[in-house]
Amino acid sequence: MTRSTWLHIAIGAICVVAALVFVRLHNASGATLPSDSASAGHRLAEAWCRECHAIDATTVGTRGGPPDFVAVANRASTTALSLKVFLKTSHQRMPNLIITPDQADDLTNYILSLKRD
Ligand code: HEC
Repeated sequence: MTRSTWLHIAIGAICVVAALVFVRLHNASGATLPSDSASAGHRLAEAWCRECHAIDATTVGTRGGPPDFVAVANRASTTALSLKVFLKTSHQRMPNLIITPDQADDLTNYILSLKRD
């Protein structure tokens, strides 16, 4: 074989390796794992919800104000479905945040992760 044929084979091999690495990285960063989703939800809650809600066990809510997320998570009536439905509708005194379905999933996974069993 000529030198240029070897060069082509080498370049081809590098491309295949690069493509495999890309696919792996892409899978790793996808928010499909529940724990990734919950941490994305935590970040969203810090940015959007903390102003009114106590969003985790370390923040303090205002008394008589919006319920804190730990309390919401531990209510028997709270389910993934009830949270998603709630986040799709706007409620009194809560500004109409535009929450995409993905973000609603992340926030839901986060709130449910606060549930103590
Ligand atoms: C401007 C203040 C404010 C912000 C910001 C806010 N909320 Fe609320 N939220 C409230 C109030 C007040 C209530 C209770 C009254 C009501 O349901 O309308 C409430 C209720 C809730 C409930 C219902 C709890 C129950 O009783 O079942 C959930 C869940 C909730 N909020 C989630 C969120 C999430 C998630 C965010 C951020 C994306 C957020 N809230 C941002 C004020 C706020």
